[in-house]
Parts: sequence; C-alpha cells; structure tokens
Amino acid sequence: MIRKLFPYIGKYKIYAILAPIAVIVEVFLEVNIPRIMAKIVDIGIANRNLDYILKMGAMMIIMALASLILGALAARFASVASSGFAKEIRRNMFYKIQDYSFANMDKFPTSSLITRLTTDVTNTQMTFMMMIRMMIRAPIMLIMATFMAVSINARLSLVFMFAIPFMAIALYFIATRAYPKFRAMFKKLDRMNAVIQENLIGIRVVKAFVRGEYEEEKFKDIADQVRETQLRAERTVIWNMPIMQFAMYGCMLAISWFGGNLIISGNMLEGELMGFISYVTQILMSLMMISMVFVMLVISRASVSRIVEVMDEKPDITEKPDPEVLLEDGSIRFENVSFGYGGPDGNKVLENINLNIKSGEVAGIIGGTGSAKTTLVQLIPRLYDVIDGRVFVSGRDVRDYSLKTLRNAVAMVLQKNVLFSGTIKENLKWGNENASDEEIIEACKAAQAHDFIMSFPNGYDTVLGQGGVNVSGGQKQRLCIARALLKKPKIIILDDSTSAVDTVTDAKIREALKKNLAGTTVIIIAQRIASVIDADKIIVMDDGKINAIGSHKNLIETNPIYREVYESQQEGVVENAGA
Ligand SMILES: Nc1ncnc2c1ncn2[C@@H]1O[C@H](COP(=O)(O)OP(=O)(O)OP(=O)(O)O)[C@@H](O)[C@H]1O
Ligand SMILES: [Mg+2]
Repeated sequence: MIRKLFPYIGKYKIYAILAPIAVIVEVFLEVNIPRIMAKIVDIGIANRNLDYILKMGAMMIIMALASLILGALAARFASVASSGFAKEIRRNMFYKIQDYSFANMDKFPTSSLITRLTTDVTNTQMTFMMMIRMMIRAPIMLIMATFMAVSINARLSLVFMFAIPFMAIALYFIATRAYPKFRAMFKKLDRMNAVIQENLIGIRVVKAFVRGEYEEEKFKDIADQVRETQLRAERTVIWNMPIMQFAMYGCMLAISWFGGNLIISGNMLEGELMGFISYVTQILMSLMMISMVFVMLVISRASVSRIVEVMDEKPDITEKPDPEVLLEDGSIRFENVSFGYGGPDGNKVLENINLNIKSGEVAGIIGGTGSAKTTLVQLIPRLYDVIDGRVFVSGRDVRDYSLKTLRNAVAMVLQKNVLFSGTIKENLKWGNENASDEEIIEACKAAQAHDFIMSFPNGYDTVLGQGGVNVSGGQKQRLCIARALLKKPKIIILDDSTSAVDTVTDAKIREALKKNLAGTTVIIIAQRIASVIDADKIIVMDDGKINAIGSHKNLIETNPIYREVYESQQEGVVENAGA
C-alpha cells in the first residue's frame, strides 16, 4: 500500500538508499562479533594464548565501533529520508487540494483533510522510517544469524523450526484483525477533530447561546468514542509483544537445556554455546522487529489509504486541452441549464434556466432563501459545472476557457466570504498582487471602505485577526468587495454582499460601481429591493426556476412575487417614517 506513495519521495531518494546500505554493513559486522567471541573462549582462553585473545579482542572492538557508527549513520539517513518523504507527501496533498473544485471539497470535511495532512502523514513517515531501517535489518540479520547458528550446530538449530511457524501464525491473526479496527479509529478521530474545529470556529456563537455545557457533553461523547475505538484497536496489537517474548524465552530455555546436555556429553564447546545463544538472541530480536514493523504497517495502511484517497480524488472541474485564454467581454448567457449538487442522478436544484445578460449590464437577482440564487451564479466562474445545458461568457462555453482566464475575468464576492490573517493591504492585494497603492485606495473608495480603514490608527496596515474578527460584518463585506474590484474583472458578482451594510452606504456603493465599472457586467444578489431597483434587468428566482425577468417598473405591474416582496419592504419603510 505504502508503495503507492513512493513516487513522492523525490530528491530524498538518495537517503532512502543510503540508509539500508549502512544498515546492511552494520548487520554484517554485528553478526560476526559472536563468532569472534566464541573463538576467544574456545581457542584463546582454552589454550591460554594471550596474544590471540588481544588480537581478536581488538578486532571485536573495531567491529563494534564501526557497527555503532554505521548504525548512527543509518538512523540519520533514515530520518532525513522519512521526514523529507513526509514533507513531499504533505506538499503534494496540499497542492492537490488546491485543485479541488467546490464539489470535491463537499466530499471531504475540512477536519478530515487536516487529520489526513497531519496525523496520517506522521504515521506514514514513522512506518517509512522503520521500513528502510528495520525491514532491511531484520531479514538480513535473520538470514545471516541463522546461517551462523546452523554452521555452529545444525541440530540445535532445529529449535527454531518450532518457534518460527508459531510466531508467523500469531502475527497473521493479529494483522488481519487490527486493520479494520484502526480504520474505525481514524474515522472517530476525524469526527473528534470536526467537533473541535466546529466549536472553535463557532466559539462566539457557543458563548452567545450559553451552549458551553452542551458542547462539552458533545466533545466528551466523541472523545470517549475515540478512546474506545483506540483501545479496541490497540487490544489486538498488544498481543504482539507478549507472544513474541514467549516464543523468544521458550527458545532460550530449550537451547540452554539441549545445549547444556551437548556440552556435558562433550559434543559442543562452551564458547560455541555462548556464540550460539548470541545468534539465537539476534534471530529472535529480528523476528520481533519484523513483527513490530508488521504491526506498524497495519496501522499505517489505514493512514496510507486515507492519503491515497486524497491524492486519487479526481478534480471534477478540469480544463480542456489547449484552453482559450482570451475573454473579450462580460456578456453572459444560460442555455437550458440544469444543475444539482448530487450530480446527474441527484435532486435538481436549478431547472431549465435560460438567461441573457449583455456586457456592461447591471442585473439584479431577487428570490427567497433557498431559491438557488447562489447556485445560479456559481456556474458562471465554474465553481460548479452544469449537469445539463450550457453557460456562455463572452459568447463561449465557460468550459472552453482556462480556469485562470475565466476566474480572473469573473470576480465573485461570495456570500460566505473570508479574509485571511494579515494586514488589510495584504488581504486586498490577494485580489491582485500587482495592485498599486493608488489602485487599492481607488477600489476601497468605490467599496466605501476607505473612510473606515483610515479611521484605524494603522490605516491600510491594520492587522486583521483570523477570518477578519476585528472588523464589523459590514466592514468585512466592503473589504471583500474592494478585493474583488482590484481584479478589474469583466463581470463582478455580488452575492448578498451588502446585506450587513446600511442602506445609505449600500446606495453609495452601487453609485460608485456604476461610475467606476462602466463596461463591467454587474450581478447583484440581494434581499432588499432597494439594492436592485435601478438594475437594467431584475431576475426573480423561485424554487430553482426563473419566475420572471424585467425592470423594476415592469415587474411591479406584472409579477406577484416581486410585488409582494416590494410591498412588504415598503410597509417597514412607511412605519419607520411614521414613527
Ligand atoms: N454545497 C451544497 N451541497 C448540497 N446542497 C446545497 C449546497 N449548497 C446549496 N445547496 C442547496 O441548494 C439549494 C439552493 O441553495 P442556494 O444557496 O443557491 O440558495 P440561495 O437562493 O442562494 O439562498 P440564500 O438567499 O439563503 O443565500 C438549497 O436547497 C440548498 O439546500
Ligand atoms: Mg445564497
């Protein structure tokens, strides 16, 4: 499974190759040490040959030191390789997510993506590190030490014939049982992160509604579930160690017994048994290592599959080969457009929309909440793709343009907008990084933001908190409009973008837009009739369909929905005026 991620190792490949090489040499040195020790005992000590003992002893020390250094080097290479691997996976995941469309994003909750980018990548990193060290070390050590042990005494080696199958079967059972449990655990972990994230983002609402206790309860609940699934998963893998140790000490016991008998009967030398026991330790250690790596692999298989899911997700909004990069004007045409969030088989949110907006026109969209106003305009910059029909901008299907061309030409001030942490100026430049100070000020004046920005002690250098917490709702909306204006778009879409702005300022913004944006197509979605009253055409949406299109005068006379909305808003004005 983890192999699927190997292409991401990139420039850290050399370290991933060096680490196993260092390990191989280290193991080679390490397995020779017990043999030398056996010789010291059986030849040097038995013959009281001090020269031999010193010579062999010196060799043993050199080998031990060299294997120590190589071990340290291997560890270093492995950490460089694995942390580089993790970095590359994260970077690629992050880039991939940037390519996701809104529809792709609807599939992965944000919190799950965060867990995948952090915990899952860390798990994979650890496994990878173990793989390039232990997965190489353990089998080589196993083979070499077995070879050595057999060469010392083949009959005594038969003991392993019993131990190894026993360990393999135990390992198989543990691994097959653990995988689904770890997957379940990660799912709960996602849920917990979602609860935390939602709570932290909405902490002001939680406090305003005094729902702290309810949220605590909710958190405790999910935290308990995480604990339980974790325990359930761990409960399977904790058997690994005791079983391995049981096998290991069982082997030791058997070998001491049989080996002792062999020495007594004169069929084996003491040094040989000492060396043999060292090899047995090495063999069993490497078996234990293999089983540990195996368990890690099982755990990380769940993580790796979650990473691969992110990587394999197909961005469902793609450019066609050789896309059009020129977009001439801001005309918009919808031709029999249908759309639903659930894809072709899901519920239709928009049905059979036909619409024509000329370049430079101001179009208003009015309609009850949930009547699919936002859905309609999202099709213009291709935030979603139509299911049926076609959307044209400047006379060409939106799918013909490169996404960059299209989205640079169509600026959309989203209904749920965000500012990023940083200064006001940085946030504005986000719309157009090459904007000069004059252009920024001009855009802010048009969006009626300049005056309040200047009233801050630091002006345009005022630092905004995360999500723009330190400006008011209406101020935030005006900054978002200014940011969109800086793109100098051919089409600007304001989705309920002045809902938190007072009516006088709202009127001023429309006035300024008209003056500054001659030639730009403007689409204004609004709840207030006043916001769209001077529009060239007003589109009345009702339950996913266009109910009527016309001017204010015309609609008042002919459209009951529009008249009703208008009258209900007039009543408020008259009452207020009378009070
Ligand atoms: N990302 C989404 N996934 C699934 N359904 C959605 C999604 N966004 C909106 N909808 C559904 O589509 C329908 C139209 O929503 P839309 O946001 O277009 O309405 P709207 O007219 O903009 O409403 P409002 O005035 O409240 O902004 C609603 O029934 C809503 O539940
Ligand atoms: Mg909306």
